[in-house]
Amino acid sequence: MIPTTPIRQAAQALAQAHHIVCLTGAGVSAESGVAPFRAAQTGLWSKFYPQRLASQEGFADDPGLVWRWYMERLRTVEAAAPNPGHRALAQLETLKPAFTLVTQNVDNLHERAGSRQVYHIHGRINHFRCNYCRAEYPLQAHEQTQEQPPICPHCSELVRPDVVWFGESLPVDVVDIAWRAAESCEIMLVVGTSGVVYPVAQLPSVAKRAGALVIDVNPQCTPVSEMADIFLQGAGGVVLPQLLEALSPTLP
Ligand code: APR
Repeated sequence: MIPTTPIRQAAQALAQAHHIVCLTGAGVSAESGVAPFRAAQTGLWSKFYPQRLASQEGFADDPGLVWRWYMERLRTVEAAAPNPGHRALAQLETLKPAFTLVTQNVDNLHERAGSRQVYHIHGRINHFRCNYCRAEYPLQAHEQTQEQPPICPHCSELVRPDVVWFGESLPVDVVDIAWRAAESCEIMLVVGTSGVVYPVAQLPSVAKRAGALVIDVNPQCTPVSEMADIFLQGAGGVVLPQLLEALSPTLP
């Protein structure tokens, strides 16, 4: 039967696919109250200078300012709850044997929605390490409200959130997994990214060049939407449950 709507088209393709890669960005957490980065006025980067807060230079200049900013963001993430978009992706993982979820988000909402395997290509805001010797640091609750970052017990340098700052390289092991998955998947489902931050923004093209179908979910049209085979224009928390709904009856 010829699918009549883009949602049905996407669902039919997902039903027939074996290996699916899902790439998410800040938009998938927007409905949970975690602000995206580049939304006008509301986006984090419309209020704060990324270079001053998410960079080695900023941390060297004023480690307390950077620490307090990340602790504020961590509190926002801890107070947030996964939305129907996160839950739909966790369900899709259970329906598809080969499912690779790569996220640019530093929040843990995918995991809290039930996703078992989540590859954080820009790091995690609830993990900490030494800025110098990279030793993992188990943050104590009281340290979240401190004015300054903790000191590394191994080398006495400063502790920081284990996120990727501007100008820093991405975790090699996760990059390797993401690129291999993009080169071997049948479908790349992209949700809530503006597609302007490289190298991750290359992934949809890597998948497409390797013959995969690219599906993009975003309320706004972005460079990813333009190159996608199917563009589902809307909020992830609305479109993804609809996609699962359309998918379920087609599955054995
Ligand atoms: N559902 C789906 N998409 C949404 C929603 C929603 N409810 N709300 C907003 N969006 C879309 C926006 O239209 C935008 O295209 O999500 C996208 C968010 O884009 P950015 O704020 O640029 O976030 P992202 O693409 O994840 O940024 C990439 O940049 O700042 C760095 O390291 C940071 O990982 C981040 C990277």
